[in-house]
Amino acid sequence: MQHKKPRRTAKSGNQTSKPQTAPEYWQSIIDSFDDEVAVIDRDFRIVYANAAAMRRYGLSKAKIIGRHCYELSHSALEPCALPDCRCPASEVWKTGNNSQSIHVHRYGTGDATEERYVEVKASPVRNSLGDITEVVLTTRDIAEAKRMEQRILEANRNLLALNVIADTVSQSLDLDTILNSALDKVLELMKGNTGGILLLDNETQTLSYRVYRELSEEFVKGIAGLKLGEGIAGLVAQRGEPIYVDNISEDPRVTRSVVVTEGLRAFASVPLISKGSVLGVMNIASHTLQRFTPEDVQLLSSISHQIAVAIENAELYEKLQRREEMRGELLHLVITTQEEERRRIARGLHDEISQALTSVAVNLEAVADALPLDADEVKARLKRIQSIAIGTLDEIHKVIWELRPSLLDDLGLIPAVESYVETHLTAAGVKAHFETAGPERRMPTNLETAIFRIIQEAVTNIVRHAGAESASISIDFEETSIAVHIEDDGKGFDLDEAMRTTREGRGLGLLSMKERAALLGGGLNIKSRPGQGTQIDLEIPVKWGKPPNV
Ligand SMILES: Nc1ncnc2c1ncn2[C@@H]1O[C@H](COP(=O)(O)OP(=O)(O)OP(=O)(O)O)[C@@H](O)[C@H]1O
Ligand SMILES: [Mg+2]
Repeated sequence: MQHKKPRRTAKSGNQTSKPQTAPEYWQSIIDSFDDEVAVIDRDFRIVYANAAAMRRYGLSKAKIIGRHCYELSHSALEPCALPDCRCPASEVWKTGNNSQSIHVHRYGTGDATEERYVEVKASPVRNSLGDITEVVLTTRDIAEAKRMEQRILEANRNLLALNVIADTVSQSLDLDTILNSALDKVLELMKGNTGGILLLDNETQTLSYRVYRELSEEFVKGIAGLKLGEGIAGLVAQRGEPIYVDNISEDPRVTRSVVVTEGLRAFASVPLISKGSVLGVMNIASHTLQRFTPEDVQLLSSISHQIAVAIENAELYEKLQRREEMRGELLHLVITTQEEERRRIARGLHDEISQALTSVAVNLEAVADALPLDADEVKARLKRIQSIAIGTLDEIHKVIWELRPSLLDDLGLIPAVESYVETHLTAAGVKAHFETAGPERRMPTNLETAIFRIIQEAVTNIVRHAGAESASISIDFEETSIAVHIEDDGKGFDLDEAMRTTREGRGLGLLSMKERAALLGGGLNIKSRPGQGTQIDLEIPVKWGKPPNV
């Protein structure tokens, strides 16, 4: 069953009155538009204009009708034409199709004239035969949109520039390389060729050029040691704010005459600030009077921050490297001093104490022998004292050996290691295997000592921690290096854990092995996992010259 739609009546509430067709009605609609609407004839004369058009030009209807559109909007004597300004109305007359174009229209009169970006749309008005009789021009103010577009383009340019600078400064950690490449990029972006970067000396609190382009030596020397607050750059560094001047040669704040002699004009000086402190100043200059645009100013400010961060990083890196070098030198000093000290103590123990003990033992024996035959009791006591002295002597020899194996000095690395393995690993019940490969040669004492100390630590660790059944040590004399491999089948350990923790002065053995290797320009690699034994590989570069005099 079909339901009839309810018939619309005046009562139903929908107040659609009869469509109005009166000209005033259409006029009021067109006048309500924000866009300018004008109708022109074939001669580009305005035959109709809405209220918006009259408002924009500040003219009455009588003063607009009959005028040429180009005269009104462009103050021109002829219709718009390419290449400067495409006329959409001409297009319509030519093609019969709608057309549009972006123009810059001039509004207002006298001093109050202003130019605005507009979008002009043209469409044909046809008679009953379909012929075009007039053209309707609808003009919309797109100044705001244009401004936005401009701003987006500007932001884009800034972003690209930042990107380029970020890319440039991240290529290196060397301060001069960073400054040089950053300055070149900034000048390229600013389409200039004159400028430089001054760095602040923290001790003297003065600025001097570190890198520069197209500035004379006299100028750079003449500016050196610029105090904070002195001249333009000094003020910029002091205040932490940029300064832009159109002609620096005539600026009263300039204190050094070289600025005038150099013939600089437009000048931009921006602080290089990182984490709130001024590290320096970047100056961009021009020899011709040429103002820096607000966009340039914006760009320079954002770039300068990036450069400052890169400078700070480079300076930190430099400091770190210097410290690392100092640490290396100090470590070297500590190790050599330690070795010398050990040698001195070992010699002292050997020459003084052990000699004295030997003589005590010998004398005790002599005294015992000289005693009458019936002094058994005394003799036995003397013998006991003598054997204590001999036992102490043995202990002292062991200590002497630990301190500085004389074999190392006398016969070199291989006999010293062989003996150490024998007296430590084998004596501790670990089946030890020692081998060498390549032509055995003596090395400089510091190298032999370092390698011996590394092996000594590894062997001590095996005895003390590994619980190994067997261990092997090999020393390879290679063409340009010496390679040592130490391996045990013990319980292994977690390397990261061991390297992290030190306990009351212990737990430095592995670290000292690595440090010693690094000091000699070599490397030490430890491989170990719980339950899987431990392998240590050491490689140290060696320039085998003539065998050293030993
Ligand atoms: N060959 C090994 N087998 C098993 N564990 C080991 C071995 N070498 C080292 N370790 C483990 O690694 C830790 C760190 O060794 P490291 O030589 O640095 O210190 P340490 O021997 O304890 O003390 P020291 O400073 O006297 O050498 C040891 O405590 C031990 O647990
Ligand atoms: Mg150890």
